[in-house]
Amino acid sequence: MANDFTVTPWEVSGEIDYDSLIREFGVKPLDDKLLERLEKHTKGLHYFLKRKIFFAHTYFDTILDQVEKGKKFYLYTGRAPSGPVHLGHMVPWMFCKWLQDKFNVNLLFQIPDEEKFLFNENLTMEETKKWSDENILDIIAMGFNPKKTKIFLDTECANLMYRHACSVAKKITLSTAKSTFGFTDSNNIGEVFYTSMQSVPAFLPTILEGKTTYCLIPCAIDQQPHFFMTNDVAPKLGYPKTATILSRFLPGLQGMHKEGKMSSSIESTTIFATDTPRQVHDKIMKYAFSGGRDTLEEHRKLGGNPDVDVSYQYLTFFLEDSKKLEQIYNDYKSGTLLTGDLKKLTVDTINKFLKKHQARRQKAKKMVRKFMLKC
Ligand code: TRP
Repeated sequence: MANDFTVTPWEVSGEIDYDSLIREFGVKPLDDKLLERLEKHTKGLHYFLKRKIFFAHTYFDTILDQVEKGKKFYLYTGRAPSGPVHLGHMVPWMFCKWLQDKFNVNLLFQIPDEEKFLFNENLTMEETKKWSDENILDIIAMGFNPKKTKIFLDTECANLMYRHACSVAKKITLSTAKSTFGFTDSNNIGEVFYTSMQSVPAFLPTILEGKTTYCLIPCAIDQQPHFFMTNDVAPKLGYPKTATILSRFLPGLQGMHKEGKMSSSIESTTIFATDTPRQVHDKIMKYAFSGGRDTLEEHRKLGGNPDVDVSYQYLTFFLEDSKKLEQIYNDYKSGTLLTGDLKKLTVDTINKFLKKHQARRQKAKKMVRKFMLKC
């Protein structure tokens, strides 16, 4: 069946048709004209943009307007601490890092430690606190500018957050929340309120600067419904509309069609930021869905299908060298590159990436205090 997929902030499943998702969500594609305009400022484009991994936006043009007027904007993104960080989480953060470096701007990083507590029956506040501490190391390890990056937990910055969240909540009716998120009468009222907490950081640039300051949110497209709410409320509270720049999902090792996006809940098919080279090797070799043929002979003769091959998909996210990527695509398609060898290339690429990450993660332990918002 066509269009048999679901994308909400709490559930992503099925084979996603990103073009119809753009229409369904009422967001805009990142078209060549906009990318050209961006490129004038960044002198080159991140490979995520060239490969359409970041593929859609809302109000991104208003951010470029600000840049062209010589005004600073803020970046904002977040991570709900419910378990260890995996490769999929890191995709928007890599892009945030690139944007921060290119525009030399502040980044607000929200850790909504109440979110997964409210939405997941089994998670205690003690556990979300523990995962916050762990996840913050991975966030710092992304290499964000310590002078321009502030990380905060919602429960610890309640003093700053709560009154603004109330202002947001007052402007959202239950019926809007129900139709945006699909809530029913059996959701708890904390779940309904939570979206106001995710909206507030989009307004913090203006609140903290004491003057109208625009905000750009790089995130995966499942978070967009929250920011529709944000923008519904923004003009009513005197804030500028918030911009988003939106990514596709990194598939789980079994592929989008079988397990959806990479998810911490299925450990064997998820690559975590702290996995050892051996673990990465074993997971990919054993589980990565292959676009190869059943026999060596057939593969050599007919070639493989890189478009459904998960190892190849991972290379599009983590192998920066576009020439090499193209070569791999062609060789796999023609049958000269075998599945085992493609998997090895992917293992090496990811292990190289994680080795650097883990070294920075180790150093991050001493830097936590510098990164936390004083609130
Ligand atoms: N809801 C996000 C999650 O489940 C966390 C989050 C909070 C977030 N604020 C954000 C994500 C802003 C992207 C952008 O992990």
